[in-house]
Amino acid sequence: AFFEVIHVADQQEAAIIVQEKLEKDLQADTLHVLGLATGSTMIPIYKRLAESSLDFSEVTAFNLDEYIGLEPTNINSYAYFMQEHLFGHKPFKETNIPNGKALDLEAECARYENQLNEHPLDIQFLGVGENGHIAFNEPGTSFDSVTHVANLTDSTLGVNSQYFGDKEEIPNTAFTMGIASIMKAKKIILLAFGEKKRPAIEALLGDTITKEWPITILKKHPHVTIITDIK
Ligand code: GLP
Repeated sequence: AFFEVIHVADQQEAAIIVQEKLEKDLQADTLHVLGLATGSTMIPIYKRLAESSLDFSEVTAFNLDEYIGLEPTNINSYAYFMQEHLFGHKPFKETNIPNGKALDLEAECARYENQLNEHPLDIQFLGVGENGHIAFNEPGTSFDSVTHVANLTDSTLGVNSQYFGDKEEIPNTAFTMGIASIMKAKKIILLAFGEKKRPAIEALLGDTITKEWPITILKKHPHVTIITDIK
């Protein structure tokens, strides 16, 4: 298996490496479906991609997750985040994000998972939560999970609440790709910066695979690149 850890000084250096990796795969014609993540970790990466000359017009994008109940026009939705940081600057062939306003939650999960099965992910970007969650697969989530409705933990709600205005209600459920959906990606690029992510990265680099640290499942993936400033 390919398991590479790239230490970088900062997020700018990480963004350059990500750009180079995507460029290589686009040139080799091996990047048709790209899995995208949200969160502050991704902002400098998307800024760099947005300003680059990379052409994503033949690439289909899939996002990991979306809050349930939020419209794409809500500034806290991941649809809005993607528009602001990437899609508004770079045309893609097609973009997919779970529909936060879907009324039939089970049907929306099945629809999304079907779309993923029809468009196998070539590369999936991942960030990581402080508690080791990937997408919204919180500690305890089955490694066999596919796209599902996740109940967010107090830890995740606490961390994410900084992005929500006072009056606004923070959704406590979200659609998320499951761990099995993510593990099907051919390559995974995980990004983690700052001391708050150290426990998660140490779990990933340790010996144990445990549901209590969802990120540790990546040890079983055939092709993972970890880009981090944590030494
Ligand atoms: C959210 C997202 C994750 C993301 C995590 C870390 O919970 N669902 O996909 O990895 O936040 O966010 P940040 O990059 O802001 O630390």
